[in-house]
Amino acid sequence: MNEPDIYIGIMSGTSIDCVDAVAVTFSDGKINIIGSHSESISAQLKLDILCLCEPGTDSIALYAETDNILGELFARAALNLMTQLDIKPSQVAAIGSHGQTVRHQPPTKVNGFSLQIGNPNLIAARTKCAVVADFRRADMALGGQGAPLVPAFHQRFFHAENSHRVIINIGGIANVTLLGGKDQCSGFDTGPGNMLLDAWCFKHKAQIYDDKGAWAATGNISKPLLNRLKKHPFFSMEAPKSTGREDFNLLWLEQQPGALSLKPEDVQATLTALTAETIADAIADLTQSFDDIFVCGGGVFNTQLINHLNQSLCESHQSAVKSTLDIGLDPKWVEACAFAWLAGRRIENKTGNLPAVTGASQPAVLGGLYLP
Ligand SMILES: Nc1ncnc2c1ncn2[C@@H]1O[C@H](COP(=O)(O)OP(=O)(O)OP(=O)(O)O)[C@@H](O)[C@H]1O
Ligand SMILES: [Mg+2]
Repeated sequence: MNEPDIYIGIMSGTSIDCVDAVAVTFSDGKINIIGSHSESISAQLKLDILCLCEPGTDSIALYAETDNILGELFARAALNLMTQLDIKPSQVAAIGSHGQTVRHQPPTKVNGFSLQIGNPNLIAARTKCAVVADFRRADMALGGQGAPLVPAFHQRFFHAENSHRVIINIGGIANVTLLGGKDQCSGFDTGPGNMLLDAWCFKHKAQIYDDKGAWAATGNISKPLLNRLKKHPFFSMEAPKSTGREDFNLLWLEQQPGALSLKPEDVQATLTALTAETIADAIADLTQSFDDIFVCGGGVFNTQLINHLNQSLCESHQSAVKSTLDIGLDPKWVEACAFAWLAGRRIENKTGNLPAVTGASQPAVLGGLYLP
């Protein structure tokens, strides 16, 4: 019988939009997507996750119950994908499950922590496949931020011999990967991606996201509010750095003087500008110049955001940003593919973090292995 060669990546990001599952194989240094599937997250589950994300409102019982509910949901995502593609457990080398982040507190002077839940024992039991999970904590045990982890994947599959590239992932949080000369790779979180946009849109329009940024397009950017938001200390911090809902949330937004007296669409326009300009500023601050910029993550579909990003990058960078589709990978599935690849690294006992990105003292084999 052939060795199992399929890896499944499961990603449920900070946006809590849906669970993305992708089945891939790796051959000749390339990644091949066999198929993909999204599993929806119920409104109640999203509320419970948001509750766990907020200090003070969590409880051990809610944590443990949600851990199991998410474990079952991730298993269902993998099983539905396997059924659609007629994949047997014996063909799957491993499932890489990122888990749902409910708290991310990078190290300061003391050890940090990052908690991703979605019981991997349940995923292994239901799918009959080996599961790799808990990717971030080995890096943090070595003093790293535990994030971002996708740059190693970007380096492996998006690196080009003759050009310097920037990869921008606009998920709930946005992060950049800088692929310089030979083997040079750095990266960091730039700040909020879609997270504030989604939260503000849901509060005022009861829509889970601002489709194509159409609502933001009806508003005017408030320069005073934008400038105040940009004063958040995270933006001027040196890398390595990573962030989460703890730093950027509605409470922080609504505490800004004047925010609540603006028209809601003006705030949405301002938040769109905040994401675009803080990404552009992070790239403009780099000493090195880059030939091409590619975007992935759900933010790609926010036309208003991408237009603003293009305008903001215009001064430092002449050509328009492209989608990672132009270099072979659908932007919607990049993160799930990254965790399929990281699962493969774990199975092969190879390291998965980049200390230059996370600040860990050395490379580490990432993730725990859960067998069926
Ligand atoms: N048509 C669209 N118009 C505007 N925004 C969209 C559209 N489609 C997706 N998005 C945005 O993309 C988000 C989902 O993106 P993605 O899945 O990359 O983020 P994530 O799950 O938070 O991942 P990460 O781990 O990178 O934070 C949605 O919550 C929404 O804000
Ligand atoms: Mg998502």
